[in-house]
Amino acid sequence: MRAVQCQELGGPDKLVVATVDDPTPKAGEVVIDVQAAAMNFPDYLVIQGKYQFRPDLPFTPGGEGAGIVSAVGEGVERLSVGDRVLFHGLTGAFAEKVAVHELTVLKIPEYLSFDEAAGLTVTYGTSLHGLKQRAELKPGETVLVLGAAGGVGLAAVELAKAMGAKVIAAASTDEKLAVCREAGADEVINYSTEDLKSALKAKAPKGVDVIYDPVGGDFTETALRAMAPGGRLLVIGFAAGDIPKIPINLCLLKQCAIVGVFWGGWIQSGNLAGHLDNMDELFQMARDGKIKPRISHRFALDDIADAYGAMTGRLVKGKIILNP
Ligand SMILES: NC(=O)c1ccc[n+]([C@@H]2O[C@H](COP(=O)([O-])OP(=O)(O)OC[C@H]3O[C@@H](n4cnc5c(N)ncnc54)[C@H](OP(=O)(O)O)[C@@H]3O)[C@@H](O)[C@H]2O)c1
Repeated sequence: MRAVQCQELGGPDKLVVATVDDPTPKAGEVVIDVQAAAMNFPDYLVIQGKYQFRPDLPFTPGGEGAGIVSAVGEGVERLSVGDRVLFHGLTGAFAEKVAVHELTVLKIPEYLSFDEAAGLTVTYGTSLHGLKQRAELKPGETVLVLGAAGGVGLAAVELAKAMGAKVIAAASTDEKLAVCREAGADEVINYSTEDLKSALKAKAPKGVDVIYDPVGGDFTETALRAMAPGGRLLVIGFAAGDIPKIPINLCLLKQCAIVGVFWGGWIQSGNLAGHLDNMDELFQMARDGKIKPRISHRFALDDIADAYGAMTGRLVKGKIILNP
């Protein structure tokens, strides 16, 4: 099969597309013929050796996707050859085939295409876990989403709206903000052309209850200063590169909480059942039209460097999909 390979750590220009042996399923695994793989920011960190885990070289990047089961390993009873499924893992998705443990695989409802299903798990899974289990978002609260047109950001906009919140979306271009409006944002802020502090004062005079922050950098503290009493800052990620160092007295003054969100860690620390409940809820929301995965770009495996370029160039409005 053909697969993207990371043979040395570094930028996307170091990746190659190689012909490698087809995977065979070990006990408890299935092999999936990948129809669509979704790119997430951690896929960029992992090829540089900057993510929480460092796979042995060489490896195939790609943490999630969707496809058709083509082989099942010993002991697998829940899945059969021919099933349409989605999967997540740490690596391996940017290839024609991938072997994954059956526990990371779910059958796709008929109303979701492969492209839509490919990016559902990580982005919507992270955002639902953040808003529901970590922020305990309540209807009527105000949510500020930074980087709101990116993968996890746009999912957070849709989910916060579906959960009954007032949503303020902040992003770097008007084009991105138009997509956020389509996804349900009530208010938008272009933080490249507007001052975030004054815009928040105008749009949320009583402060915001929840901040969803996948960007980091200077925006985090500015946003935190606009927090309402009892607010929660969800620490999702640092796409801007800089990990903010927040003066801790702000928590006291704002009577707020800084809450870490680590979706993969949550599942691995004994919460698989909670994750599966969340996925059921996401399938129902997709069926009812409350969420609609938006595909920003589609690429072939050979265009892997362009796919990463779209992400690092901040061009994404929703998901980047690779169709092997
Ligand atoms: N905590 C968890 O469990 C978890 C799970 C998944 C992802 N994450 C993290 O969430 C963050 C976003 O992931 P994603 O997959 O949604 O990425 P994404 O689609 O690329 O979105 C990231 C957004 O960040 C903004 N940004 C600001 N500075 C940037 C820069 N220098 N380079 C790239 N983007 C920049 C961009 O929006 P503007 O141009 O509008 O500013 C972009 O839309 C990452 O840090 C990722 O590691 C965390």
